[in-house]
Amino acid sequence: MLNKELHEGINDQINKEMASAYLYLSMAAYLEGNNLSGSAHWMRKQAEEEMEHAMKMFDYMFDRGNQVTLLAIDAPPAEFSSPLDVFEQVLAHERKVTGLIHSLYALSIEHKDYAAQTFLQWFVNEQVEEERNADGIVQKLRMVGDKGHALLMIDRELGAR
Ligand SMILES: [Fe+2]
Ligand SMILES: [Fe+2]
Repeated sequence: MLNKELHEGINDQINKEMASAYLYLSMAAYLEGNNLSGSAHWMRKQAEEEMEHAMKMFDYMFDRGNQVTLLAIDAPPAEFSSPLDVFEQVLAHERKVTGLIHSLYALSIEHKDYAAQTFLQWFVNEQVEEERNADGIVQKLRMVGDKGHALLMIDRELGAR
């Protein structure tokens, strides 16, 4: 069994991962509505990945003999000012999630829960990827500014995910 703090922490993180999926799905809707179907596709995949993260944690709780209690998810923002604004928010959000994962990891060290450390290590590595991907897109969008043609090129690239 996971100790109380880790149990509550991972239970909360299931909610955070699902909230991330909800946020990214809202961003996908915004992008789709603005005719950026490649970016919308990328964001939809991102939402699916967040659901996979939630399910990994969901399953792990039962692997350890703990119970899961699902919590409420707030409505995500629906309006964004530009594709750059969207991806800047993705990057900021992923940085925040990295902090949450690191706190859980620190907790598993504190409680000498070696199994949880191994489990959480996957998420620590995943966050490096997540931040790197979001940052790469932000950099590109900053580079093109409001040049429509270049934006469409990036959109096509994101559609290949
Ligand atoms: Fe995640
Ligand atoms: Fe993520």
